[in-house]
Amino acid sequence: MLELNKMYFEDCLIGLKKIKNESIDVIVTSPPYNIGLKYNGYKDNKPREDYLDWLETIAKECKRVLKKGGSFFLNVGGKPSDYWIPLDVAMRFRNHYELQNIFHWIKSISIEKKDVGNYRNIIGDITVGHYKPINSKRFLSDCHEYIFHFTKEGNVELDKLAIGVKYQDKSNIKRWKSTKSDLKDRGNTWFIPYETIQESRLHPSTFPIGLPKKCIKLHGLKEGMVVLDPFMGIGTTALSCIELNVNYIGFEIDQKYLQVANERIINYSQERKKYLSIKSIDDFNG
Ligand SMILES: C[S@@+](CC[C@H](N)C(=O)[O-])C[C@H]1O[C@@H](n2cnc3c(N)ncnc32)[C@H](O)[C@@H]1O
Repeated sequence: MLELNKMYFEDCLIGLKKIKNESIDVIVTSPPYNIGLKYNGYKDNKPREDYLDWLETIAKECKRVLKKGGSFFLNVGGKPSDYWIPLDVAMRFRNHYELQNIFHWIKSISIEKKDVGNYRNIIGDITVGHYKPINSKRFLSDCHEYIFHFTKEGNVELDKLAIGVKYQDKSNIKRWKSTKSDLKDRGNTWFIPYETIQESRLHPSTFPIGLPKKCIKLHGLKEGMVVLDPFMGIGTTALSCIELNVNYIGFEIDQKYLQVANERIINYSQERKKYLSIKSIDDFNG
């Protein structure tokens, strides 16, 4: 019997079998990309067809546990010498899901003042975010990954304004009849920088906490909802669930990563308690 709000040291295919049909609201995950990364134990260099077959089996099992109106957010990247990987993976998922949205996780972007015209807040050229620079005459540095949003029927209603952005031009709020607040649809390019470089030393391929958080909020927060991450790594999805106050469950085959994940959760909970108690002292002192 699996319990909620735990991460299990287990192969996800075995773990998934213990989850009931249609019991999961949201799946957010990032599988190994098969690009030869140096994980602690996992070998990231399967023959391509074996890799795709393996992920397709996991996709099918995830479909079984996902609710009818659930969302599956799959983060996959490639490498400059092999940009087909995420697209090949998406094609395997196509056999089982509708592709409801594609989001582009932007790790770094440069914007030149001359290209944006008269934006009050942009006063010069800017470059924001970080990426691993590539030393090649053929390829540019890779500053982006995909987040495929798969659903069972392609018609899941989303809480777009939960991750909405403020209107730059406030006159638009009055102009559009349907607009009720100062927020609009963010669109499908998501700039999400890493918060610290520390985590990247503990695991070669994490996503920032903002990524699962955006996905879960976009699907819509509901009382008692359950989020699954079959490839937990160092627990970023679990942390985002704790922040959002939703249930999580997940699997990881590397005990060392799982230990880091559990430590991150303990540290986070202690920090949060500290923050809450400081807040309450401030409240008392007026
Ligand atoms: C891209 S990483 C996920 C990182 C995670 N999103 C984070 O932010 O920490 C993929 C993880 O899948 C794990 N993994 C590989 N095969 C697995 C399997 N069969 N079951 C569960 N975990 C597996 C690897 O050890 C690795 O930590």
